[in-house]
Amino acid sequence: MKLEDIKNICVVGAGNMGHQIALQAAICGYKVKCSDVNADTLKKADAFVDSYLPGRVEKGRLTAEQARQARANIEFVDSLKKAVHDADFVIEAATEVLSLKRKIFADLDHLAPKHAILATNSSAIVSSKIADATQRQDKVVNMHFFNPALVMKLVEVVKGAHVSDETADVTMALSKDLQKVPVLLKKEVDGFLLNRIFAAISKEAMWLLEMGVAEVEDIDNACVYGAGHPMGPFRLNDLTGLDLSYIMRMEKFRETGNPADLPSPRLVEHYMKGEFGEKTGQGWYSYSGK
Ligand SMILES: NC(=O)c1ccc[n+]([C@@H]2O[C@H](COP(=O)([O-])OP(=O)(O)OC[C@H]3O[C@@H](n4cnc5c(N)ncnc54)[C@H](O)[C@@H]3O)[C@@H](O)[C@H]2O)c1
Repeated sequence: MKLEDIKNICVVGAGNMGHQIALQAAICGYKVKCSDVNADTLKKADAFVDSYLPGRVEKGRLTAEQARQARANIEFVDSLKKAVHDADFVIEAATEVLSLKRKIFADLDHLAPKHAILATNSSAIVSSKIADATQRQDKVVNMHFFNPALVMKLVEVVKGAHVSDETADVTMALSKDLQKVPVLLKKEVDGFLLNRIFAAISKEAMWLLEMGVAEVEDIDNACVYGAGHPMGPFRLNDLTGLDLSYIMRMEKFRETGNPADLPSPRLVEHYMKGEFGEKTGQGWYSYSGK
């Protein structure tokens, strides 16, 4: 398969990441169907498209015709079968749970056309842990977007040992066509590139907080005003979701059994209170009134 053969894209999951990946693909001219199991999420995603596109036209980033075309290109559906039956490329952006992803990929393998590449947007699960749930392991690959997916340029493409050259090449080419900057990882590694680098920063930031060395805002300010980061690790965590961090750390702990991999006590405290960051109005910072 070549990039030119991709006309229809299916995105599985219309949450934080999925609806924005889907919209980016629709803006770039692809026919996109985005599925979710949650009716409310689908409704919100659809409403987001209606609110986002006029703003882009006002700012001169899209013409009125491009916005109209993007709106026509995207559809939110509650059935995986309907979303994927004619897909040339699938991007899975469902909840970060390995067993769920394996089930979704087994279903996708049955429902998607035989030529379709099945990519996962997982932040942490390497595709070799999912590929054997399908009969097309060479076409199962990591394609890791960053949050917010409409804005962030980086996409990490991970070429595990099971991934064919063609799959990696097409995934890199598609990422470029979605106006992103893809980087290729030549082998699977836990956390990929950027999250490994961020994990080191975040672990240190959490340690400084837990040790009572400094407060959240001062640690963030050190990163912003000293290192030129666009935001500090705690503000970033509020954006990406404390729930996701908690789940990822627990997955890691289950894997390694190493207590050092457990989420920090302060993160657990927020998670137990349902304080997941911006999306719940409270995380490391408060967003009440926003
Ligand atoms: N949030 C981030 O910053 C970020 C960044 C990069 C990658 N990711 C990855 O993207 C994926 C999604 O993360 P998110 O933050 O968008 O989570 P989210 O909770 O906002 O969205 C996940 C969505 O998946 C849906 N879902 C669950 N089971 C489904 C199924 N069987 N079929 C279709 N939809 C299903 C849920 O209803 C939910 O709407 C995860 O794998 C995560 O690791 C997240």
